[in-house]
Amino acid sequence: MQNFKGGVAVITGGASGIGLAMAKRFAAEGMKLAIGDVEKTALDEVVDDFTTAGVDVLGFALDVSDGAQMQAFADAVVERFGGVNIFCNNAGVGGGGLSWETPIETWEWTLGVNLWGVIHGVRSFVPLLLAQPEAHIVNTASVAGLFAGPMMGAYNASKHAVVAISETLHHEFAMLGATPKVSVLCPGWVNTGIADSERNRPDHLVVAGESTPEAEAQAAPIRAMLQQVISTGMDPAVVAQQVFEAVRDEQFWIQTHATADGDKWMQAVNSRLDSARDRTNPVLTMLL
Ligand code: NAI
Repeated sequence: MQNFKGGVAVITGGASGIGLAMAKRFAAEGMKLAIGDVEKTALDEVVDDFTTAGVDVLGFALDVSDGAQMQAFADAVVERFGGVNIFCNNAGVGGGGLSWETPIETWEWTLGVNLWGVIHGVRSFVPLLLAQPEAHIVNTASVAGLFAGPMMGAYNASKHAVVAISETLHHEFAMLGATPKVSVLCPGWVNTGIADSERNRPDHLVVAGESTPEAEAQAAPIRAMLQQVISTGMDPAVVAQQVFEAVRDEQFWIQTHATADGDKWMQAVNSRLDSARDRTNPVLTMLL
């Protein structure tokens, strides 16, 4: 995509972290913004800040796991701006635990936001992208969409699915000769609010009994470890710059932490691909 100025960028989960950084980066190109987020207070603050800075912005409170709310968001964007040039399917939540012990509510919540949110985004926004002379969809997956480490079954499943959906879209657009391009964002650790995802768990998916002192004692060390690695993660602004360049250059893979001399994340990805090719059992090359 070459013409950003005056175009419309839509970002789910844009009130915090990577989504907010992408919103800022696209606004810096002179784009109008539509930001959808479940966290109303943070959303209102972000919309106020952009408005004060002179950016034409629509804020829309929604839970991306609900298809009707996603469609209402798309309708509101069309009513306000007439169309969409860039759609970032970015809202996400993270949690951990052994797969068989992960409560069903956590599986439903994680897959609801990270997978169904992306599916609803594709269904409601791709038809709008198809109507544009230049358009791009960015789906936020993770390096957890390229290999599967322990203690993150629901998250891994959701992110592998986002990578698969993105590749599928890429081939479908090519097959039809359609104009939109696709990128899939696969970051390692980024310094955002993701370790505090529980702030956005809806009441109906709160796990009964999980707030007992015993459950808390079990969960606390994992949460602390996650918070530690996240707080030393990449600056979201750096990720946003990589996203901007990928959209501009029509680049599918955005592997934020990849280095020429072979970073630990790509070693894990390559190890998985080697094991599939060689039919050897998977080897864990890194934990965190
Ligand atoms: P964050 O917590 O700072 O931002 C996530 C945003 O999504 C928040 O504004 C939150 O309110 C919103 N959100 C959560 N549930 C929602 C729902 N049901 N409907 C609408 N909005 C909802 O976290 P971060 O890291 O910026 O997350 C953005 C994306 O990046 C996620 O998809 C995450 O899985 C992915 N990611 C993050 C990494 C990291 O290390 N921070 C690494 C790899 C991927």
